[in-house]
Amino acid sequence: METERSADARYTRVAIAFHWILTVLILLNFVLVWSAEDAPKAKEAQLVGYHMANGMLILFLTVLRIIWRLMNPPPPFEDSLKAWEVALAKVVHFVFYFLMIAIPLVGWIMVSAFSGGHGVGFFGLFEIPGLPLAKNQATAGVFHEVHELLAGLMLLLFALHVAAALKHQFVDRDGTMRRMLSARR
Ligand code: HEM
Ligand code: HEM
Repeated sequence: METERSADARYTRVAIAFHWILTVLILLNFVLVWSAEDAPKAKEAQLVGYHMANGMLILFLTVLRIIWRLMNPPPPFEDSLKAWEVALAKVVHFVFYFLMIAIPLVGWIMVSAFSGGHGVGFFGLFEIPGLPLAKNQATAGVFHEVHELLAGLMLLLFALHVAAALKHQFVDRDGTMRRMLSARR
C-alpha cells in the first residue's frame, strides 16, 4: 500500500526522458564501437563514424541534462534507504554525470589530435568542428587509453547501478524503480 511519505516522490517527466534516452544512446555507443572491431574496413569506418556522432550527441544532451537538473533538483531519496545506500547512490550518480561528459570530451580530443583538428561528421548532416590541436599520434594514443579506461569504469558502474535497481525492485520491493518509470503528476 502506498504511504504519503517518500513513496510519492518521483522524478519528473523531463528527468525520466533524459535518463532513458541517454541510457539507450550510451548503450548503443558501446554496441557501435564493439561491432566496428570485427567489421571489414569500410564498414568499420562507418560504424566508428556513427560512434563519434552519437557520442557527440550524448555530450550535448548531457550538458543540457546537467543544466536542467541544476535548475530542477531531484526528488528526495526513499525514507527506507540506509545512509550508506544514499551515499553510494549519490557517488554513482555524480560519477555517471562526470563520465557522460569526460568520455565524449576525451574522444573528441583524441580524434582532433589524431587528425590535426579535423571535424567530426554528424550522420552526414553537418560537421562539428575539431578542437584546435596539432597532429600528434602520441597524444591521440594517450587520450585513446584514457577513453578506453573511462568507458570501462562506466561499464562497472552500469553493472552496480542496474544491480541496485533490481535489488530495490525485487528484494527490497520499495518504490525506487517506479521513481524513474512513471512521472510525478
Ligand atoms: C559516452 C560516449 C562514448 C562512449 C561510452 C565511448 C566508448 C568507447 C569504447 C568502449 C571504445 C573502445 C575502446 C577501445 O578498446 O579502443 C571507444 C573507442 C573509440 N571512441 Fe568512443 N565513446 C564515446 C564517445 C566518443 C566520441 C564523442 C568520440 C569522438 C568524437 C569517440 C571516438 C572514439 C574512437 C576514435 C575510438 C577508437 C575506435 C577504433 O579503435 O577504431 N568516442 N569508445
Ligand atoms: C548507461 C546507462 C545509465 C546511466 C548513465 C544512468 C545514470 C543515472 C543517473 C545519473 C541517475 C541519477 C539521476 C539524478 O538524480 O539526476 C540515475 C537514476 C536512476 N537510474 Fe539510471 N542510468 C543508466 C541506466 C539505468 C538502468 C538500465 C536502470 C534500470 C534497470 C536504471 C535505473 C535508475 C533508477 C531506478 C534511478 C533512480 C534512483 C533514485 O531513486 O534516486 N538506470 N541513473
